[in-house]
Amino acid sequence: MANSITPLVAGNWKMNGMIASSDEARAMAAGLADLADPKCDVLICPPATLIGFLARVLGESAISLGAQDCHPQPGGAHTGDIAAEMLADVGATTVIVGHSERRQDHGETDALVASKAQAAWRAGLKAIICVGESEAERDAGDALTVVRSQLEGSVPPEATASDTIIAYEPIWAIGTGRTPTPADVAEVHDAVRETLKELLRPEGEGMRILYGGSVKPGNAAELMSASNVNGALVGGASLKAEDFLGIIRAYS
Ligand code: 13P
Repeated sequence: MANSITPLVAGNWKMNGMIASSDEARAMAAGLADLADPKCDVLICPPATLIGFLARVLGESAISLGAQDCHPQPGGAHTGDIAAEMLADVGATTVIVGHSERRQDHGETDALVASKAQAAWRAGLKAIICVGESEAERDAGDALTVVRSQLEGSVPPEATASDTIIAYEPIWAIGTGRTPTPADVAEVHDAVRETLKELLRPEGEGMRILYGGSVKPGNAAELMSASNVNGALVGGASLKAEDFLGIIRAYS
């Protein structure tokens, strides 16, 4: 079953992007349209301020739009927060939840991340649930234990292969230019697959597991070839059309 999973290349723009960034998005859509037979789905997660605008810019292009976070509630007195329903309303299909930067900067717990995933589904969005160990945890030999515990706490038991995507992002590889070896990636992704099968039964078999952390055009094919890697969650290299398209081509 795992072989039939369509890979996803997702760009996480983080807190980057202005109206002028629509030029890059347009160039990405044009480059994707030029590919004879793209073998992956493509998603861009810009800041929330740009989702509605880019939905109009990208129109019928093959690029889907996602968000980087949502609030668990559908509305109410939560100043500064954004409901999953609002993201769907302006054209998002997907939302990232539990990114390590939100876990670190905003103290997000596994339980909160799980409630955000449920909010995403309530609004008809897919949830990309992020997990990943710190450098100290890896050095202590605890990477697999940490990731397993995050999956147990952050992935609600009703998750399905069609509404949920897992992203494994080792924190020490994010924005550093350092990546795990393909063998190390495979070890974690195999363990994530086994845990998902245990937690979710058949739904865990077909669920996409993305790798994230310093994915670039030059290393995308190698990382993609690792066992149970079903795509990439790309930060810095998703901001420029040339780089992002280079990664998409590696998957095609
Ligand atoms: P970089 O690709 O910039 O390392 O970021 C990865 C990431 O955090 C994507 O969510």
